[in-house]
Amino acid sequence: MMASEVSDVLSVAPAHTFVLFGATGDLAKRKLYPAIFNLYRRQQIASPFLIVGVARRPHTDESFQEEIINSIHEFSHVTEEEETLLHDFARHFHYQSAHIDSDEEFQQLHNRIDELEKAEQVPDNRVFYLAMAPEFFGTAALHLQKSGLLNGTGFKRVIIEKPFGHDLASAQELNAQLRQVFEEEQIYRIDHYLGKEMEQNIEVLRFANSMFEPIWDNRSIANVQITSSETVGVEDRAGYYEQSGALRDMVQNHILQMVMMIAMEPPSRLNTEAIRDEKVKVLRSLRRYAVDDVANHVVRAQYTGQAMQDKTVLGYREEKGVAHDSTTETFIAAELFIDNFRWAGVPFYIRTGKRMDTKATEIVIQFKDMPKNMYFNQNGGLGPNLLVIRVNPAEGMYLQINTKRPGSDNAVIPVALEFSQESNAVKEAYERLIFDAVRGDSTYFTRWDEVSLAWKFVDPIAKAFRENPQSKLHTYLAGSSGPQASNELLVERNFKWWPVFGQEVPATSLEQYFARKGEAKRP
Ligand code: BG6
Repeated sequence: MMASEVSDVLSVAPAHTFVLFGATGDLAKRKLYPAIFNLYRRQQIASPFLIVGVARRPHTDESFQEEIINSIHEFSHVTEEEETLLHDFARHFHYQSAHIDSDEEFQQLHNRIDELEKAEQVPDNRVFYLAMAPEFFGTAALHLQKSGLLNGTGFKRVIIEKPFGHDLASAQELNAQLRQVFEEEQIYRIDHYLGKEMEQNIEVLRFANSMFEPIWDNRSIANVQITSSETVGVEDRAGYYEQSGALRDMVQNHILQMVMMIAMEPPSRLNTEAIRDEKVKVLRSLRRYAVDDVANHVVRAQYTGQAMQDKTVLGYREEKGVAHDSTTETFIAAELFIDNFRWAGVPFYIRTGKRMDTKATEIVIQFKDMPKNMYFNQNGGLGPNLLVIRVNPAEGMYLQINTKRPGSDNAVIPVALEFSQESNAVKEAYERLIFDAVRGDSTYFTRWDEVSLAWKFVDPIAKAFRENPQSKLHTYLAGSSGPQASNELLVERNFKWWPVFGQEVPATSLEQYFARKGEAKRP
């Protein structure tokens, strides 16, 4: 990894104890155990290491280890030859039942960890992962301190999941609770988008290629489009999602992180704080909308049901746990402006939604048009150059350029120069982030000032949604590309959303281009 100086030093996680609160939960099973197993099979965790699972329900070490093996079988791919390795891995796991508000049980947890560390000769380097609802972070932190688990000479770090608050005020409160116990440098706030390979690759693309940086500004770029569309609905998370909606669930964190990565200035050095400083500057320049102005720049919508092929898809209000008159947005699109020297006048269009037609996160950089009336445009077809960064689930990028349509005098067609990075070597986001936290690299975690500035941008929008009738809730059909109103955001400037390709890419050869158009190759 290029980002931090720390990364270059530690290519293997040092010996440590990983204490996981919420050890029997969904996140642990689906994401965390498979991620840690991957690190283990890549030999990136130094032995000795211990993993202590903590949750309320009773378990013995053996029954817990069995659960670990089962969840890794279910959510990861294990070959026959790797079975022994998996069983060896599971033996590093121990279990301690504890309630988050019990002094006594935290004391028992401390004693247990001390004993295990002595027996296994693990130094008291400890990482605490709080995979639990944020309202428990404060209590958990205080008990960690009170029980003495944070004493000792080894490093002590805490990893927490989003959502980090519900608005600026609650985020400040949460942060104050954590800061009573931990220093900012010890707090690792996860935004799993920052662990995605292509998101990290934006830095390399921009700062390791001489061709992009000179044109990465308002002189050459017409607009930037960031889309994160999902085909899934709210699933079994209505309790959380009803309160959060797409604005808090995706924009406050993942989408703004992508905006920062695209818009940041080159950092003075490739170290953690220099990179985070540049990202924060983007948020400082991000134009904040007054509540009354939100409706002019932000569109919100909710999906309605429809019959699809062989089944009927429910509308959001019909989903389990959702109020029948819910006004929670499942889709949001917005036009953002970064009021600094580089980006003045360049709109950043963002959109994200559930139950859309495609699962894809893509960033499109649209370059300015050539003077169209002078060359090559007699037969139409001349479009702008696009640089498309495909974040998820397909990973890669392509550059859309214009080429001569063979057999014609000067007609032009668009084709893509494509790079795809699908490979077994690509790490999962959680794998990379856990690894970074254990070796003390916080580059791809969210610093407090990023969180607070993101809320300062989001809060007036949330307020407009709550209180301003002009910020109307639109609807879109489940399985569609979103509400018509989101297209209108771009019309004023004569732009349009570029399609999100998901698994497909525009034609990379003439054969493909003509085959897709259903035309003969040589007209
Ligand atoms: C999570 C959101 O942070 O990101 C989910 O809470 C969303 O609602 C998910 O589905 C999307 O992540 P990815 O990696 O699948 O794009």
